[in-house]
Amino acid sequence: MANHWEEVQKKLDSIHEKQLFRETRIYQGIDFCSNDYMGLATNPSMLEFFQSQKEIYPFGSTASRLVRGNASSMDRFENEFANFVEGEAALLVSTGFTANFGLLDSIAAPDCYVFTDRLNHASILDGIRISGAQKKYYNHLDLNHLRSLLEKAHLEDPTGKKKRIVVTESLFSMDGDSPDLKTLLSLKKEFGFVLVLDEAHAFGIYGTRGKGLVFQDLDLSEIQSIDYRVYTLGKSLGLEGGIIVTKKIGRDHLVNVMRSFIFSTAPLPMVSKLASFALSLLATMDKERENLLSLANLLKESLKQNGFEITNSTSHIIPLLLDTEKQALFYAGYLQDRGLDVRAIRPPTVSTPRLRISLNAKLKLEDIHRLVEELILVRKQWNSL
Ligand SMILES: Cc1ncc(COP(=O)(O)O)c(C=O)c1O
Repeated sequence: MANHWEEVQKKLDSIHEKQLFRETRIYQGIDFCSNDYMGLATNPSMLEFFQSQKEIYPFGSTASRLVRGNASSMDRFENEFANFVEGEAALLVSTGFTANFGLLDSIAAPDCYVFTDRLNHASILDGIRISGAQKKYYNHLDLNHLRSLLEKAHLEDPTGKKKRIVVTESLFSMDGDSPDLKTLLSLKKEFGFVLVLDEAHAFGIYGTRGKGLVFQDLDLSEIQSIDYRVYTLGKSLGLEGGIIVTKKIGRDHLVNVMRSFIFSTAPLPMVSKLASFALSLLATMDKERENLLSLANLLKESLKQNGFEITNSTSHIIPLLLDTEKQALFYAGYLQDRGLDVRAIRPPTVSTPRLRISLNAKLKLEDIHRLVEELILVRKQWNSL
């Protein structure tokens, strides 16, 4: 029998050789990499609200939500969230990963087709995998390709016995781009599939009062025809947790079958209290949203003018593409040494190495200028090696 630890060592050696070794490090420097897009994780009003809380016990929720773990603040937050994004009902779970993974496992099965954008998040792909459904990848953002796969599925199964599910992010976390939501909704009308839309990186920034990209691009009836919308509390809300917005019966169904919900301790009660407060703050932050988007446009323009290659980002997530893992690590290390917290993202998270620059509403114009200046300097150093 192979020795387990020898096997582990070999795997690590191979990861090192490919410049793909990762380690956890304490953060420092100006934030150009987190998902705290609205700066709520360190918002002073959030701190005040937290300090004003009289009911701190229990720290932990002590059980799953179906046993003793369901605090009134959780029900309250779910209702507030569902109202905010104009959905019928919402289900709070411990993380966004749990939400996607558990949702897809719950609604898909081996006799389903699940059509997924090739670049969807790991939590989506793993949920499809665990469900045993027949996974059909379409090329990133390519809704013509999705259409041709839907047509093919129709030929294979003309009576529609097999359920069809389509799942996509509304804003892709590693590319900063979005599918054409209008076209997606018209395909839904034509083919009648179940639609799962992950708003993780768009919520808080886009649409009226930060309600998400669907509120920017779709009308209310289209929004309400989306079967499941997935959100995370870990990004624009500055906390942690996941939330699924769906019909009332959709929520009842998940409460009864979703294993990552049923068999896991409920989130901390304080999280849902803070989440209600964060949601009310977020709704008022139009100025911050404007600042964030104008900084993002400025950075994209400036990077292009200075000859850097970036993705077709339409958002505050601006990935700068590089040739090799070694180059990405060199650039990130250089920037970090100068107090700019930019991280290298490498395979298997993405197919090509990059710096994932994500902006937040706390950044200032001079931070953006400084980032571009340092990028020009690190490029010079790299080219002279
Ligand atoms: C698109 C997308 N969905 C879901 C998640 C998971 O959310 P969480 O970090 O709350 O587990 C992520 C995490 O980065 C994500 O990028």
